Amino acid sequence: MVKICGIGAGYVGGPTMAVIALKCPEIEVTVVDISHSRIAAWNSDHLPIYEPGLEQVVQQCRNKNLFFSTDVEKHVAEADIIFVSVNTPTKSRGLGAGKAADLTYWEGAARVIAEMSKSNKIVIEKSTVPVRTAEAIERILTHNSNGVSFQILSNPEFLSEGTAIEDLLNPDRVLIGGRQTPEGLLAIQTVKDIYAHWLPEDRIITTNLWSAELAKLADNAFLAQRISSINAMSALCEATGAEVSEVSHALSKNSKLGPRFLNASVGFGGSCFQKDILNLVYISESNGLTEVANYWKQVIQMNDYQKDRFVKRVISSMFNTVSGKKIAILGFAFKKDTSDTRKTPSIDVCKGLMGDDAYLTIYDPRVSEDQIRRDLSLNSTVEWDHPIHLQPTISPSTMKQVRIVKDAYEATKDAHGICILTEWDEFKSLDYQRIFDNMQKPAFVFDGRNILNVGRLREIGFIVYSIGKPLDPWLRP
Ligand code: UDX
Ligand code: ADP
Repeated sequence: MVKICGIGAGYVGGPTMAVIALKCPEIEVTVVDISHSRIAAWNSDHLPIYEPGLEQVVQQCRNKNLFFSTDVEKHVAEADIIFVSVNTPTKSRGLGAGKAADLTYWEGAARVIAEMSKSNKIVIEKSTVPVRTAEAIERILTHNSNGVSFQILSNPEFLSEGTAIEDLLNPDRVLIGGRQTPEGLLAIQTVKDIYAHWLPEDRIITTNLWSAELAKLADNAFLAQRISSINAMSALCEATGAEVSEVSHALSKNSKLGPRFLNASVGFGGSCFQKDILNLVYISESNGLTEVANYWKQVIQMNDYQKDRFVKRVISSMFNTVSGKKIAILGFAFKKDTSDTRKTPSIDVCKGLMGDDAYLTIYDPRVSEDQIRRDLSLNSTVEWDHPIHLQPTISPSTMKQVRIVKDAYEATKDAHGICILTEWDEFKSLDYQRIFDNMQKPAFVFDGRNILNVGRLREIGFIVYSIGKPLDPWLRP
């Protein structure tokens, strides 16, 4: 029986290993993590992450050919194939702080692999890493190898949170990069055979190691760039009377462009986009490619501008101050159908409003109160020169101005304004007449996700701002 060990039981490792176990019943898959609480949650009825469909997959395979354990050493030693899906955040200090990827966790995993391995292994990078990381990992492994041979492959993950299971079951493509040596090609074939259990051959692309690593960074950079491009258009739409959704629709019908990632929003979030672009910027700068670095930097600057612009719009619409006013925040996750809040635009928008002394009442269907409080009380890192507006340090006394509640009606009761910051489906079908009746007047809605029917809300009596749409007469300069 082939044994797979997945190191890292997070948003990438957990779902990916679960789907491999589902599709390859003859393979034993064990997911290991240094976090005891995470592993305990994977072994319980309350999985540590929310993903539609994940629970069913885990229930089907757990304790049959899918196991979760904290015994990293044992399962690394026993495995034939090791997928490494540990976190690779942006470095917060030292050389490359604010841009380079922090490979501490990856290196930790590599050292355990080197120490525990008594037989040859295929080691696979799943986490997004800088180009040429595989080479560094190879060095760590071969210098500490006790005669064991390792093949390092890059098999970057392209799943999106909220649709992870669907993306894993039916991906556009799987990318496997490896050394173009006989041993490397054999390792590529072995991993290809795993995916061939449920995917046709033509969806499995094989490349050299460095192309696979760079393709992953480029993939995220291109997607983020598209969002920043449409967000740039949204500002222009507001200034000219054009409608961003009409512009997007027109673009989407161009078969050269395609329909996806054209929704203007309050800004992109998530653990990947900003981190990977910063990484690309760092690599470009390190190679003396200043113009390339500046080009990609601009994608993040536009994203920050979009969040900053939103905060300023809220404040300026409400008579230039939100001090002492109650603002309902609907949505805290970085997108719908996930409980993940990493780099969610809600953090910056909430902090911006708190910086102007607003009272916030926050509701998100999936994010816990603890998580929201943790996110808001953490000081912004040095990661990026955010516009000052977005990063006030939130004092414990300002935190007292934040309430986290259990539904949208409670959040909006007596509020002066509502900010929609995540596109949760349930926000589309709320009873906005009831909400309006229970709010202070004039009642404002700021739709940062363009999910509401602006005309209908205006009929009810709301003053509405929706990103990239013609401005309410109230809001016109
Ligand atoms: C992304 C990539 O899509 C995926 O391929 C990669 O493996 C990991 O990073 P993820 O971060 O999970 O996935 O979510 P995604 O759906 O890409 O959304 C990222 C952010 O962009 C979210 O905040 C989302 O709300 C925002 N977004 C997305 C927009 O603002 N407009 C759009 O049109 C699409
Ligand atoms: P991602 O979104 O990339 O999956 P997460 O932070 O959700 O990132 O998950 C990464 C997981 O990797 C965490 O649960 C963390 O505890 C785990 N991890 C980090 N370093 C190691 C290591 N050396 N050995 C085992 N697990 C690790």
